[in-house]
Amino acid sequence: MSAIAQSAISFAPTTTTRVVASSSSALSSRRMSKTRNALRLSSSIPARHGKKSSLVVQAINPRSDAADAGKGQRVMIIGGDGYCGWATALHLSQRGYEVSIVDNLCRRQFDDQLGFNSLTPIKSIHERVRKWEEVSGRKIELFIGDVCDYEFLGATFEKFNPTAAVHFGEQRSAPYSMMDRSRAIFTQTNNVMGTINVLYAIKEFAPDCHLVKLGTMGEYGTPNIDIEEGYLTITHNGRTDTLPYPKQGGSFYHLSKCHDSANMLFCTKAWNLRCTDINQGVVYGIATDETMMHPDLINRLDYDAVFGTALNRFCIQAAVGHPMTVYGKGGQTRGFLNIRDTVQCIQIAVDNPAEPGKMPIYNQFTQQFSVNELAGLITEAGQKLGLSPEVISVPNPRTEAEEHYYNAKNSNLKDLGLEPTLLGDELLDTLMKTVIDYKDRVDQRLIMPGVNWKESQSVAKNITK
Ligand SMILES: NC(=O)c1ccc[n+]([C@@H]2O[C@H](COP(=O)([O-])OP(=O)(O)OC[C@H]3O[C@@H](n4cnc5c(N)ncnc54)[C@H](O)[C@@H]3O)[C@@H](O)[C@H]2O)c1
Repeated sequence: MSAIAQSAISFAPTTTTRVVASSSSALSSRRMSKTRNALRLSSSIPARHGKKSSLVVQAINPRSDAADAGKGQRVMIIGGDGYCGWATALHLSQRGYEVSIVDNLCRRQFDDQLGFNSLTPIKSIHERVRKWEEVSGRKIELFIGDVCDYEFLGATFEKFNPTAAVHFGEQRSAPYSMMDRSRAIFTQTNNVMGTINVLYAIKEFAPDCHLVKLGTMGEYGTPNIDIEEGYLTITHNGRTDTLPYPKQGGSFYHLSKCHDSANMLFCTKAWNLRCTDINQGVVYGIATDETMMHPDLINRLDYDAVFGTALNRFCIQAAVGHPMTVYGKGGQTRGFLNIRDTVQCIQIAVDNPAEPGKMPIYNQFTQQFSVNELAGLITEAGQKLGLSPEVISVPNPRTEAEEHYYNAKNSNLKDLGLEPTLLGDELLDTLMKTVIDYKDRVDQRLIMPGVNWKESQSVAKNITK
């Protein structure tokens, strides 16, 4: 692991660097207007690396909700038992993509270790997949195993022969990565090694497969300049270049994603791979059309202080009469998106394969909110449902700016056809009502923050008591 960690690239900017312009040059050559994409393009890609290509290229599919929108595409969803992965697997399967799920179920083990549980009663992955076939008539192939196990991963690539691999399969909690040294090492080993394995598996077994890899908006940190989509054109001492945007991960988890991005860019260029890096904002919501088709398909909803994300947690706190826990001053601003938009964005990314050797980067979020703004919106929504939500400020367990500039660009996915589902009364209402249905399952002891960035070891012991 140490060799992998040492190979991570630092993008620290120099103080003499002057920003003159910004662009996402890797994307610009392939960004096409919706009009130009009105026709579905299917073409054979010449074989590369001596292997026969089975890739079908589609521009934005104007019938992306059609039952055969994904015809000819074989999509491997790595991490398909998780929150984003499960919803995405069903969304694509419903639209005619052949889908497989690869997952080692470690997310469920984290809950077992720490005494947590999803608010919603989720079924086992085997039951989920069986129910999906029963309800939809569509089959999802299941591969249970660890992407860090290369023998397993190689065999799944050979067997399934994907045209696209969507990689959600990482340890995704910043607090979990900060609990103690062993979880910091686990997070970086699991995430960085897993992604390197996926890159090698594509190179060796499916060289035309398009990798769509989930990173996070947290890779950028909170710089005092606008956040571009992945690349920044800068002039320094009279010379100009377009470079990866500086990364400033705020936890061992976020840093694992920065390392992934650097490794992917290197492999994309060195091996002429097709890779798209997605910096996703904080996802909220529970319902997608497919997960709501049967109670056994329901998605997970995390509310504990380690795996719960801000908006979902606030809704659950409001529903059970626990004050919403704003960390510190509450001016922390981030990009957010609905789970319905996550699945739409991934479909768009899959339908627009990256050119070999180029790595487009998408900032996948639809709206920015500060923590205080979120608490205000949920207070209003809760009051409409007859609740009396309260907001408290708790000492910030994280090391982060509580008041800062934040302006992140997010036009790449919209240019490719994303129609955002913006946060409004109706969405909050649906989420709150779902939460109220399951509020008896909430263990209020899990709500207060238990992982402090500065005192992780001792607080980790408290949490596992
Ligand atoms: N949920 C969010 O708000 C959010 C925001 C930004 C980015 N992301 C990123 O999106 C991805 C999915 O997030 P999520 O919320 O669905 O997480 P999740 O924890 O619910 O799902 C991740 C899945 O990956 C599996 N997994 C982890 N390591 C694995 C391994 N080595 N081999 C096989 N499977 C493995 C887990 O068992 C789990 O089912 C993550 O990479 C995360 O960093 C999520």
